[in-house]
Amino acid sequence: MIGELELNQIYQRDCIEGMRMLPDNSIDLTVTSPPYDDLRTYNGYNFDFEATAKELYRVTKNGGVVVWVIGDRTQNGSETGTSFKQALFFKEIGFNLHDTMIYEKDSISFPDTNRYYQIFEYMFVLSKGKPKTVNLITDRKNKWADGKKRIKGRERQSDGSLKGRRKGNLLKPYGVRFNIWRFSTGKNKSTKDTIAYQHPAIFPETLVNDHILSWTNPNDIVLDPFMGSGTTAKMAAVNNREFLGFEISEEYVGIANKRLETVKEDANDE
Ligand SMILES: C[S@@+](CC[C@H](N)C(=O)[O-])C[C@H]1O[C@@H](n2cnc3c(N)ncnc32)[C@H](O)[C@@H]1O
Repeated sequence: MIGELELNQIYQRDCIEGMRMLPDNSIDLTVTSPPYDDLRTYNGYNFDFEATAKELYRVTKNGGVVVWVIGDRTQNGSETGTSFKQALFFKEIGFNLHDTMIYEKDSISFPDTNRYYQIFEYMFVLSKGKPKTVNLITDRKNKWADGKKRIKGRERQSDGSLKGRRKGNLLKPYGVRFNIWRFSTGKNKSTKDTIAYQHPAIFPETLVNDHILSWTNPNDIVLDPFMGSGTTAKMAAVNNREFLGFEISEEYVGIANKRLETVKEDANDE
């Protein structure tokens, strides 16, 4: 249980109502993408951003993290700037803007003819104080590492003059990832779960997976207040984390629960 709610469930309800049932400081990580700029109607549902942000701050543990995935719509010739406004609001209410990351897609939907093709969304990594869990993924192949090359460069003293040369450390074959993450999107790429595509805006599973690995440990609690097709719940379950979710549409809760059944079946087969 967490407050009045059972863990590892997706509740069909408005996320603010749902989060109000949770105790303060109870969630380790949130990975979510809200409806934005009326881009899609999601069966006609909408949300109150400021109230959601404040509830997220209250329920996040000290050192917990919220990954807020968002983009901007272009209206009357201008991008709305909603993403920036939201990031700054999160800062105003107490979150650290720990990192502004980019989720780069490998396909575009409706290109405009007078601007470069839109290929990314923001992943604002917000933390309540200093993040308590940081497991940076180290899978970026270091093309210069040959077993002999060393990290070069000289540090400066406080008066600006260069410090003496040091024998730098050997370059490792793999380095920490950069903060632009590229994912394949679209049918059969975001997920193999065919049913998920009945939802119009699903996360790539790897995006959620990699944030869960980065900011939590096993048995931590992962929230998604806008659960949609259930990607966050599925990836939390796959990685032995507890999850909790809210989703206002009955249809999408049905899809998410079907996806979760396949995770349970796969676990039973092992
Ligand atoms: C961008 S989608 C999330 C998709 C999800 N990340 C996935 O992988 O499938 C946003 C979701 O928020 C839901 N939603 C809209 N308003 C809501 C509210 N007030 N409370 C809870 N869910 C809401 C919509 O029905 C929609 O499924």
